[in-house]
Amino acid sequence: MARLKVAILISGRGSNMAALIEAMQPDDFPAEVVLVLSNQPDAAGLEIARAANIPTEVLKHGDFDSREAFDAAMTEVLAAAGVRLICLAGFMRLLSTEFCQRWRDRIINIHPSLLPAFKGLHVHERMLEAGVRIAGCTVHFVRPAMDEGPILVQATVPIAADDTADSLSARILEQEHRIYPLAVRLIAEGKARAAGASVALDNFALSEDRLINPPLR
Ligand code: GRF
Repeated sequence: MARLKVAILISGRGSNMAALIEAMQPDDFPAEVVLVLSNQPDAAGLEIARAANIPTEVLKHGDFDSREAFDAAMTEVLAAAGVRLICLAGFMRLLSTEFCQRWRDRIINIHPSLLPAFKGLHVHERMLEAGVRIAGCTVHFVRPAMDEGPILVQATVPIAADDTADSLSARILEQEHRIYPLAVRLIAEGKARAAGASVALDNFALSEDRLINPPLR
């Protein structure tokens, strides 16, 4: 069967992008990365993508008059590459409603909290300040409102008494790198679909590690 064509959108370091590229390297993975697109010409992730022989594209948002114009240019590039799934991976731009509609149920995002808690920026600091005991990360379908949309996969990360924002962020990132490829696989195999406000999952063999959540059966 043809592999699902995936684009990864980045603005910076690209560690989730690198994890996705690595996971999709084997020919038997049901999806393949056909494009990495950055709005920042100096994003470190671009070098990683080039080294992995992935086609890259830079669209500077400052070159466009409006968010809509920038997003329309992205759509053109993505459609030309035959993209069927967009993975946001540290892409630091809000997306227009038009773009979200054009790609509805074909854009996913990763966020370093157990959504819907702690949307937005500075998540690790805010979780520590709030004294929560369990942190985590979420992959979700994208809707126009920031960090909102049906949840695909989550993993939990217990917070230690001596955690700093950096140590917590590093441990959450390890889990991000596990669940993002899993979410792509579920979509590519047709096992996960947005259904209303949540995601419908087909029968899915749960790993031994119950910290990863599609729900228990
Ligand atoms: C990650 O923490 C991700 O959850 C958030 O932005 C960060 C991107 O890091 N959306 P990287 O560029 O993937 O290393």
